[in-house]
Amino acid sequence: MEKNLSIALIGLGFGADFIPIYLNHPLVRKLTIFDTNIQVLEEVGNRFELADKARSFEEILDDETIDAVHLVTPIPLHAKQTIDVFQSGKHCACTVPMATSIKDLLEILKAQKKSNKVYMGMETAVYTRHFIYAQEMLKNDKIGRIQLLRGAHYQDMEKWPSYWMGLPPMHYATHAISPVLALANTHAKSVHCFGSGVMRKELINQYNNPYPVETAIFELEYDTPLAAEVTRSLFHTARDYTESFNIYGEKGTFEWQQLENDNPVVFEMNPDDKSSHIPSLGRGNKITFEHINVPDRQDLLPKEIARFTKEEIFNKDKEHLSFIQGGGHHGSHPHLVNEFVISIYENRQPWPNGSITANWTAAGICAHESAMDGGRKILIPNFQKDFE
Ligand SMILES: NC(=O)c1ccc[n+]([C@@H]2O[C@H](COP(=O)([O-])OP(=O)(O)OC[C@H]3O[C@@H](n4cnc5c(N)ncnc54)[C@H](O)[C@@H]3O)[C@@H](O)[C@H]2O)c1
Repeated sequence: MEKNLSIALIGLGFGADFIPIYLNHPLVRKLTIFDTNIQVLEEVGNRFELADKARSFEEILDDETIDAVHLVTPIPLHAKQTIDVFQSGKHCACTVPMATSIKDLLEILKAQKKSNKVYMGMETAVYTRHFIYAQEMLKNDKIGRIQLLRGAHYQDMEKWPSYWMGLPPMHYATHAISPVLALANTHAKSVHCFGSGVMRKELINQYNNPYPVETAIFELEYDTPLAAEVTRSLFHTARDYTESFNIYGEKGTFEWQQLENDNPVVFEMNPDDKSSHIPSLGRGNKITFEHINVPDRQDLLPKEIARFTKEEIFNKDKEHLSFIQGGGHHGSHPHLVNEFVISIYENRQPWPNGSITANWTAAGICAHESAMDGGRKILIPNFQKDFE
């Protein structure tokens, strides 16, 4: 491998978590950083001893030596900035959500197709050690036929930056939707969703969204009937942070831990074990369970960045909340950087590519549409059909 890529990282709140990973990746020659907040730019630049600081987004777009841009900017900017990056002829990775309207998803995919560059959705939920573990359970036939999926993302967003205030919960639901769709290796065809709870008045105004919580049932495209339940809460709900998925199978089940510092539970169906779990009646199959330590998958990464599945990279008082909550999204960050960088190097689209990310994002957008219409069934577009 030869160090040959020049990457720009834009937005240095959560985005700063990725700096040491790019700096240590064996394929990255140079990292340029940018944030519109000059104080943040200087402080982060000094902390990581980075000389390459851009002074504007346009400076990055105009710089022909930069190959790729990773956007970690506020949600309302994602669509336009992604399109600008493609129009400048560079590869683009963007944090979630990809966009918050179907129209913008379409525009991004068209721009990507025209540029013929890489798009990667930097979806932390599909590179967690939990997700990798469940995927291997499926591969090793430990789950059997998938019977039901569930996803949940609870997080209190009071006092976060203003663009979060009153955000429709399903507009940022991909951490709960993407793992269930990815495990079933499919897309959602339709959704019924209900808004739930009461939100105080000033939070409703920005997005005309009255719901602090939304809960949806998705119908999945699959060869047998398959549904996924997904719940997302943002405000006024006394539940500590979790981004979780459960997968229920005929042979085995993986259930996310109830509290972040617990361990997940794996259940196993034992039809040949004659000692039923209600022995006196002989009813029901015996189902055993185990709290498991999910293995950290540093073995899947180049050795130079493997430690970033665990390491705390900020001083204690400067940690971004996402690193504290879930320990850097359960080891996902270096896997995301590695897939983005290697896909460019290998001249292929990464996983998740643009159309898969658009499908995951569209499922949430359509869910909110359903919630605003009393739970009416909404059909969800399949972008993979037109863009792959
Ligand atoms: N698990 C995850 O994948 C995950 C976790 C946290 C945040 N996020 C996403 O990351 C993004 C950033 O989150 P955050 O908590 O750091 O947000 P934030 O609003 O706290 O920080 C965003 C940073 O971007 C800068 N910025 C604003 N406008 C800019 C522009 N035009 N150009 C360059 N920089 C600009 C701000 O000054 C700020 O430093 C959000 O879109 C959020 O949805 C994803």
